[in-house]
Amino acid sequence: MYTGILHTHVLSVALFLLLYIVKTYLLASGKHIALDKVSKATKHPERLISVLFLATGIYLLMNSGNVTNLVYIKIAMVFASIPLAVIGFKRKKPILAIVSVVLLILSYGLAEMNAKRASKNKPKPEISQQANEAEVGKALYENYCQNCHGAEGDAGLSGAKNLKLTALSAEEQASIILNGKGVMPGFKNLNPNEVQAIVKHVQSLK
Ligand code: HEC
Repeated sequence: MYTGILHTHVLSVALFLLLYIVKTYLLASGKHIALDKVSKATKHPERLISVLFLATGIYLLMNSGNVTNLVYIKIAMVFASIPLAVIGFKRKKPILAIVSVVLLILSYGLAEMNAKRASKNKPKPEISQQANEAEVGKALYENYCQNCHGAEGDAGLSGAKNLKLTALSAEEQASIILNGKGVMPGFKNLNPNEVQAIVKHVQSLK
């Protein structure tokens, strides 16, 4: 479900952006008649795409385990870009339309950055030297996994699988933790002992 909605969101944003780029090009090159024609012809599809893009965006925001400040900056940029474009096209001010398209493209980039940062840049938690494997596994799990899988393994945010029900072997789990799968990022910053400790913790959730 989450991945399907995510794909629909990306597709509707891409269509929206494409339409804005075409319209901005027509506006900037002074082809006002063509612009009016395109605007008229795409009026209903554009409305449909905007609703789709907004509705899927809200769903993702509410069901994501990875909502950071970057996500809020991205949303602010998207909301700023829309009135700019509306005014730009209406008053025939190319600069406003261009700024709007640039904001949309930047927000696309921010979303990508957010997904990558989640795994790579999160510092390891402080774990005492005396901690045993179970404590290490729990601390690492809370730091890297809990925001999507939840403390008990069954929160299911960002489309995360229920870890209480997983049928995967320890090796298969370790491989997914290292390399990621679908929306789940890989955690290559973890050493084999740490991965092992997390897998044991996951098994203890069952
Ligand atoms: C950004 C959210 C997110 C984070 C953070 C995350 N996961 Fe996942 N996890 C997912 C998603 C989504 C899937 C389903 C992937 C798929 O099948 O496409 C998944 C799948 C898994 C699976 C496979 C389960 C199965 O039965 O197929 C395991 C095991 C797992 N995660 C463990 C972890 C562990 C351990 C961590 C922390 C090191 C972690 N995950 C961090 C989202 C996340």
